[in-house]
Amino acid sequence: MKLSEARRRAIELRKIIEDHNHHYYVLNAPVISDFEFDLLINELETLEKLHPELLSADSPTQRVGSDITREFVQYDHTYPMLSLGNTYSRDEVESFCDRVRKGLGHDPEYICELKYDGVSISLTYEGGRLVRALTRGDGIKGDDVTANVKTIRSIPLRVSGNGIPDTFVIRGEIYLPRKGFEEMNAAREAAGEPLFANPRNAASGTLKLLDPKSVAGRPLECFLYYLLGEDLPADNHYENLMAAKSWGFRIPEVMERCISSDEIAAFMDNWENRRKELPYDTDGAVIKVNSLTDQNILGLTAKSPRWAIAYKYAAEQADTQLLSVDFQVGRTGNITPVANLKPVFLAGTTVKRASLHNYDQIKLLDLHIGDTVVIEKGGEIIPKIVGVDQNKRGSLSPVIFPHECPECHTELVRIEGEANHYCPNYLHCPPQITGRIIHFAGRKAMNIDGLGEETIEMLYREKLIDNIASLYDLTEESLSHLDRMGEKSAANIIRGIKESVKVPYPKVLFALGIRHVGETVARKLAAGFPDLEELMKATPEELTALSEIGPKIASSVIEYFNDNDNIQIISRLKERGIHFTGKKREQKEGVLSGKTVVISGTFLRHSREEYKQIIEEHGGRNSSSVSSATTFILAGEGMGPSKMAKASDLGIEIMNEEDFLRFIEEY
Ligand code: IVH
Repeated sequence: MKLSEARRRAIELRKIIEDHNHHYYVLNAPVISDFEFDLLINELETLEKLHPELLSADSPTQRVGSDITREFVQYDHTYPMLSLGNTYSRDEVESFCDRVRKGLGHDPEYICELKYDGVSISLTYEGGRLVRALTRGDGIKGDDVTANVKTIRSIPLRVSGNGIPDTFVIRGEIYLPRKGFEEMNAAREAAGEPLFANPRNAASGTLKLLDPKSVAGRPLECFLYYLLGEDLPADNHYENLMAAKSWGFRIPEVMERCISSDEIAAFMDNWENRRKELPYDTDGAVIKVNSLTDQNILGLTAKSPRWAIAYKYAAEQADTQLLSVDFQVGRTGNITPVANLKPVFLAGTTVKRASLHNYDQIKLLDLHIGDTVVIEKGGEIIPKIVGVDQNKRGSLSPVIFPHECPECHTELVRIEGEANHYCPNYLHCPPQITGRIIHFAGRKAMNIDGLGEETIEMLYREKLIDNIASLYDLTEESLSHLDRMGEKSAANIIRGIKESVKVPYPKVLFALGIRHVGETVARKLAAGFPDLEELMKATPEELTALSEIGPKIASSVIEYFNDNDNIQIISRLKERGIHFTGKKREQKEGVLSGKTVVISGTFLRHSREEYKQIIEEHGGRNSSSVSSATTFILAGEGMGPSKMAKASDLGIEIMNEEDFLRFIEEY
C-alpha cells in the first residue's frame, strides 16, 4: 500500500475506532462485536508499524480505552491500570511464550485463568478495610465507584487473616451472571425501558448508576484476580491469590498451572466449550507468568505487561437461511433493515431475526432472498449477518433497499456522510409520530405512568393524539370511550400526564426527541443554556463551545428550533406548565475562573474535547470565536489563519499545549 493510501486509511480507521469506543464506553451500546473491533485495531496497528510516520500520540492504538464519566469523582490509580495484549491466534500465544523464554532465559511456570467478560475494578484496602473502588478510567485515573461497589456482597468490606499488608490493591472483574441479566432485561422490557445488549454492558451500566440503592437491587458479582502492593504474602501470583482467598476474597474458580505452550494450548482447548456451562460470560483465557521476580524481569510496555497475554475465543457463528427483509422506521425516521431468518440455535438462544444495519451492509454482502447466511452474536442483543455462503446462492432476487418509506411512501433521503437513510416526512409518518410520543412518555424522559407503547399506538389510531403536546389535552372522559380501557387505567394515565409537568428541564429537553440529543447531551445543553429561550437562539459557535457538543449535534438542535411546528408544540407545552428553565450553571471555581478560552488547531496530549472539559473543570468558559472577551487562545498544530490574525489585532495571548498544562498544574 502506498503511503498516501495508508495515511488515508489510518485517518479513516481512527475515526471509526473512536466512534466505536464512544458507543462502547460512553453510551454502553456497542454496534460491532469485540472481534470486529479488534480487527480494526489490528489493521491500524499494522499500518502504524509499517509506516511509523503515521503514528500519532492521539491514535486510539496509543491508549487504554477510557470509561470516565463526569458524574463521579476521579482519583489516580496507585499503580497504573494496564490492559492485556490480546490475540485470537494460537500462533501468537506461542510467540508470547517464545518471547518470555528469551526474556528470562528459561521456561517459567504459567497460571492460566479464564477471561471474565465484565468490567474491571481496582479495590484499595487500608488497615484491612475497603477504602476505595476505582474503575479503569483511562488507566491513570478512574471513577470513584466505592459506594456502588460496597453493595456487592462478594466484595469484603473488611478482611482478616494472616499476612495482610497494611495497604494493598486487588483487581478483578465485576460481572452479572447470565440469569441475573436475563431477569433484569425482562423487568426492563415490562417497564418499557431500553434493554441492555449483554451482561457486560448491564454490569458496566449498573456500576455507573448514581444511586447505590439501585445498584444494590442488581445481582452483581466479582472475581478478584490480581494482587498488588509492597508487602505481599508470597513471591508468586498463585500463592498471593490463595492468600487473598483466605482473607475473604472471591478468586477465579479456574486457575491451572502450566509449564509449556502445549499445556497452555490444552487449557485453551479444554475451556473453549466447558466455559459455556458456567453461569457467567467468559470470552477467552488469560495466561500469566507466575513468579513475581520473573514478572519484574519481563516488565511492561506502555499499555500492557509483557508477562501476560489474553487469548480470545472467536464469537460463535451459525449458518441459516434468509427468508425476507423488513424495513423498520424509527422515531427519527431512520430506516433499519432487519432480516427474518429460518430459526437457528446460537449461543444459548433461538435466533429468528438479525440486524442488517443499513444500505451499505446489504450491498457489501450482496444479499439475495434465500441465501445461506452466517450469523454471529457479538455485543448486541440482535445478532448480525456477517457473511454469505456464495456457493449456496438463494433465489435470483437481490434484497432491494426501498426508495420510499415503507410506511408513508415518502421518498427516502440519505444525509451526506451518514450511513443511514431517513424518511423526511417528520410530521406525518405514523411510526415517527408514535415513536416520538413513546420516547417522550418513556421512563428516562417524562416518565408518564400507564402510557406504554401499545396504548400510545391505540390513542394515535383513534385520533386522540397526534403529537407530544396533544397528550395534555386528553381527559378521563375522552379515554373512557376506548375499548379495553377501564376507568382505573384511564385515571392512572391522566394522573401520570399531570404529574409529568413536574419533570425537570434537562429531562424535558431529552424528551423532545431532538436527533442526536441523548440524556447526557440534554444535560449538557440544559447546563449551558438554563433557559430554553436562550437555547432556541443559540448559534452553532455557542453550542459547540460546550464540551461534548460537536457540529452534528449543533446543527440538529438548530434545525429542530427552526421548525415552526416544533415551536408551536413547545409553546403548547409551556402553556401546560412544563419546565423549560433549569438551574443556573454552577460555575466551578479554579485557576480559569472568569476567563474565556478559545481552542484552535489539533493537539498531542489531549483531544479538543478533553481540553474543553479541562477548561470547564478549572472554572473557565469555552468559546469558539475570538473576540475582545477572549482571555487567551489555546493553540495546537495548524491554528486557523483568521483566528491568528484576529488574535494579533486584539493583542490576545496565544498559549501552546505544554504551557497551558503547566499553567494549570502550577496552580
Ligand atoms: S489480569 C495487568 N486476569 O481482561 C493486567 N485480567 O485487557 C492484569 N480480565 O484488563 C489483568 N479476566 O479487565 C486478568 N483472569 C483475568 C481476567 C482479566 C478478565 C480483563 C481485565 C483486563 C482485560 C484484558
